[in-house]
Amino acid sequence: LLFNFNDYSTYVEIKREIPSLSQISQKIGLNEGSNFFKPLIIADENTEYIAAKISCNANCPCVILKSGEENKNWQSVETILNAAHKAELGRDGVFIAVGGGVIGDLAGFASSIYMRGCRFVLVSTTLLGMVDASIGGKTGFDLFGIKNLVGSFYPAQSVYIALDALLTLPQREIKSGMAELIKTAVLCGDDFLEELTPLAKNINGLNKFLNDGLLYKCIERAVLYKGGIVSEDFRESGKRMLLNLGHTFAHALESCAGLGNISHGEAVAWGIVRACELGLELGVTPRERAKKIINLIESSGYECASPHPTAKSGDAKNTADYLLNAIKSDKKKKNGNITFIVPNEQSACAVILKEEETKTLENILLSRHAI
Ligand SMILES: NC(=O)c1ccc[n+]([C@@H]2O[C@H](COP(=O)([O-])OP(=O)(O)OC[C@H]3O[C@@H](n4cnc5c(N)ncnc54)[C@H](O)[C@@H]3O)[C@@H](O)[C@H]2O)c1
Repeated sequence: LLFNFNDYSTYVEIKREIPSLSQISQKIGLNEGSNFFKPLIIADENTEYIAAKISCNANCPCVILKSGEENKNWQSVETILNAAHKAELGRDGVFIAVGGGVIGDLAGFASSIYMRGCRFVLVSTTLLGMVDASIGGKTGFDLFGIKNLVGSFYPAQSVYIALDALLTLPQREIKSGMAELIKTAVLCGDDFLEELTPLAKNINGLNKFLNDGLLYKCIERAVLYKGGIVSEDFRESGKRMLLNLGHTFAHALESCAGLGNISHGEAVAWGIVRACELGLELGVTPRERAKKIINLIESSGYECASPHPTAKSGDAKNTADYLLNAIKSDKKKKNGNITFIVPNEQSACAVILKEEETKTLENILLSRHAI
């Protein structure tokens, strides 16, 4: 698959096997062993074994970072830059990120600033990375406790979606990625939702779908959808915002639950349920569609209750107030208005809630609505 994002082209390959260093070098038009191919592999503690498979004992410089969102910081970026400098990489050097969204965002950012921008290749190893984070060129790190406060738009030249990496991915991470896949299916339309249902309902046994092609097909659909949206709206001034479905609620829940106490995907699934309730309340989401989406999320084992059990701070009213304040301070708020993405007949659309309309929001955060 080939996408053009403004001045950048991204080539995406979906395969079971982990790519080798020579496959990577050939794809970007350089030969392994030639003086021109100077790679640096960037991985974390859990993807180090995949990095080793890629380099296959070749004498390739490699930097292993600590894993997790808490290490998505400037220190990690500096560690990457330091390793690139030590390995004497020039502007024609190739940063090869091997990992999920955290490693991808960090290595992508480092490659966008090293020598004012060097080559960047991404080997995606989490479900969330495969269906979302690896496509579209958003890079960055967290600063002052704010997620992705610093970053750049710098798409990878090549993205490898190596399905076999999922064999070692913990269940919690599979579940997190599946929520983003459900989000994409809601945006794509009901036929994708139906196609995805057997996978979503079998999160614990997802690996058995590696062989029958369904997982491949759903990941490919998600990549095509995201790639298409980003090609139209690289810098998120319009259509790309649809990808935030469920995310305004999810970010509020994540901040209320405390970082690391709930996975991003679990929060997104809960957020999509709230977006359905809001859309229904505003007359934008048809009742039958809301039912279909919520049923899938619930039967896939995600928590749908409101308030969410991990978010409870005092009684329901206190929790709703906390979430409401977090939503109000979200970066998507402009002039007191808050933009939400809610499902519509076949996909989703943006709705703007005025400050004085927050009563509707409070009701949704206070208790689960019968649909
Ligand atoms: N750039 C984008 O467009 C975009 C989009 C969505 C999310 N993100 C970012 O992505 C991040 C979340 O990504 P994530 O969910 O992939 O998290 P992650 O990168 O932290 O990976 C989750 C965990 O799985 C481990 N892991 C990764 N691959 C593995 C494998 N194959 N086997 C065993 N363990 C493995 C990691 O070490 C980590 O502990 C967030 O920081 C978010 O902001 C970016």
